[in-house]
Amino acid sequence: MRITFLVDNLPHPTLPLLTEHGLSLYIETDDLTNRLIGESTNRKIGILCDMGASGAYIKNAKALGIDLNTCHWAFLSHAHADHTGGLGKWVAQYGHIPVYASHHIPTLQCYSSRPKKVEGQKSKVESQRKVSAEASLLDYAEPMPDFMSEANKVASQRSKVEDQRFNDSAIQRERSEFDSPHHQITASPRYIGADLNLFRGHTPWFKPIEQNTWISPDIALVHPTCHQYSKPLGNKYLTVVTSQKSKVASQRFNDSAIQPEQSENDSPNHQITASPSQSEIDPFDHEFALAFITGKGLVIVSCCSHHGALNTIASCMEFTGCNTLHAYIGGLHFVDSPEVEAETTSFIGDWLRLYPNAHLYTGHCTCPRAATLLKAHLPKCHTFYTGMMVEV
Ligand SMILES: [Fe+2]
Ligand SMILES: [Fe+2]
Repeated sequence: MRITFLVDNLPHPTLPLLTEHGLSLYIETDDLTNRLIGESTNRKIGILCDMGASGAYIKNAKALGIDLNTCHWAFLSHAHADHTGGLGKWVAQYGHIPVYASHHIPTLQCYSSRPKKVEGQKSKVESQRKVSAEASLLDYAEPMPDFMSEANKVASQRSKVEDQRFNDSAIQRERSEFDSPHHQITASPRYIGADLNLFRGHTPWFKPIEQNTWISPDIALVHPTCHQYSKPLGNKYLTVVTSQKSKVASQRFNDSAIQPEQSENDSPNHQITASPSQSEIDPFDHEFALAFITGKGLVIVSCCSHHGALNTIASCMEFTGCNTLHAYIGGLHFVDSPEVEAETTSFIGDWLRLYPNAHLYTGHCTCPRAATLLKAHLPKCHTFYTGMMVEV
């Protein structure tokens, strides 16, 4: 099984590939039908897992000689725009290929209230990465997709209007935690969800997933339900408005004295109907992992691991019945914070106790401080980057 990281936060050390804060992987694996009958053929199936924040993954795939037209199906791990931002370009070019994703995604509005770091206060590791990226002229990021900047204008406008109603919300409570000179407080929660307009009307490419599902006899989509282990601390910044709340909020908003200048149908984001102040901590009902049963054991791809990698692994083992972990691939959502070293150290202890022989490929939302600790203590931990290819 070969995995190519089509786009990631980290640049390729030598190739001129596009880099962005986002993740997209191309997975080539044996055709199980052939494997079951014991024939050794070179036939592979291709799976696209996530689409990064823009269309960069498509350009990088071409540069790497990967023909996405040969992809059998695609998958979106969760609604966040650093994984779904390239969906519009996918549908435009590869709309004949099915895309599996949670049935919640078309009605979810996701927000982040995580403070952005001031540029001059980046950690030493981050600064070193930046220097190395600039040195090789590879630190290229495509601009934020239009739908996100428009959505954030709407979110910001409504946030101001509803600030008085905001006092009890989870977002407001968390804002105060970051009144620190090390952080720049965001003015309002930022929209970080999918472009909901893509899910309107006729969407034959969209294959909604409601529960754990076998896509083929050895590949499953698994929603983590285990709560035995801790979840990433960074989840506390992430909120969501579901469709029902959205309708209620929309009604309230329309009844209020302040109306949007445009009618909803004129707006490019007419589906963004609720204020972020209506949002609640995201339970990540929209997150699924990919679980492959291989001859070496379970290979799990969980792009942001918002449920926690250890919970995700336990859930995949329970559903598939395969209790040997060969490799776990994905971000761990260990975001930079004063607690991240304790969070990572606790994870390392559990990992060594539970899966001492398994490989861990991580990057993306695993912050540099966490990645450094993981590599120092886990001999089979690898950091992925844009353009990296691994055989697992
Ligand atoms: Fe992410
Ligand atoms: Fe995420």
